[in-house]
Amino acid sequence: MRHFLTLLDVTSEEARYILKRAAKIKRKLKEGKATRSLEGKTLGMIFDKASTRTRVSFETGMFQLGGHALFLHSGTTQLGRGEPIEDSARVLSSMVDCVMIRTFGHDIVQKFAEYSAVPVINGLTDLTHPCQILADVFTYEEHRGPIEGKTVAWIGDGNNMAHSWVNGAVSFGYKLKIASPEGYRPDEKLLAAATALGADVSLTNDPIEAVDGADLVTTDVWASMGQEDEQLEREKAFAGFQVNDRVMAHANPDALFMHCLPAHRGEEVTASVIDGPQSVVWAEAENRLHAQKGLLDFLLSGQG
Ligand code: CP
Ligand code: NVA
Repeated sequence: MRHFLTLLDVTSEEARYILKRAAKIKRKLKEGKATRSLEGKTLGMIFDKASTRTRVSFETGMFQLGGHALFLHSGTTQLGRGEPIEDSARVLSSMVDCVMIRTFGHDIVQKFAEYSAVPVINGLTDLTHPCQILADVFTYEEHRGPIEGKTVAWIGDGNNMAHSWVNGAVSFGYKLKIASPEGYRPDEKLLAAATALGADVSLTNDPIEAVDGADLVTTDVWASMGQEDEQLEREKAFAGFQVNDRVMAHANPDALFMHCLPAHRGEEVTASVIDGPQSVVWAEAENRLHAQKGLLDFLLSGQG
């Protein structure tokens, strides 16, 4: 029984296997052929935060694989009324085959996993968003081939997405250049752990330096869910960290642009970039579905 709380919960070989399965299942789907590897299986999806892509991709993915997904909003379950995580994990995992959780503290998914009898998937915490990186690497490789040895530039907040790009550097072997303002850099412990496992990550406070030689440029909102009160101070701190045409011009000419979405045009990215020719954000969003089907298949059909 395996959990997927961060990318480092699977080996590089397993991460590769998940993407290979995803590619095969996607190809078959596009040919009109179903993959029903999860007949009769159920995924419980706990959401403490809003979601469009994560909810729809997991729910649709389970349905397409022959299973079923339950949407459990914390506000309408006993979790929202203070039932302990341990008790909820024991009860839910006695009925469903897998649990996906989107919440605030990473310790919540860790505790849930500790008491769960079935695999637990992190659908985003304040610390990491590993499912998104599966989709992002999948998308890069669909457009440009192997990501190993390529350079990824992260511009902006050292947030959950940045952390998952850091972990992804271990799993997928790309070089990562991060440009963040002082005070908003990625978590030092997470960075040190990934570096110890071989991640090639550099930090700067100059976006132009970060995108120099980049094959992929990516960013995220300046204020993540739960940080809405910090919007104004963050707008000031990140003012020089917008991905715009000037920044993209310093990346490699065939560089792609990605954003996990939702995006704020005019803040972390200009419309000219996100809606421009280098952007693959719509393919990236669709690939949440395909990459997670690979993950679910890996965790639930006996490979995990
Ligand atoms: N990228 C992402 O996780 O989107 P949602 O918040 O809509 O799920
Ligand atoms: N960093 C963002 C990602 C949303 C998918 C957030 O946590 O709100």
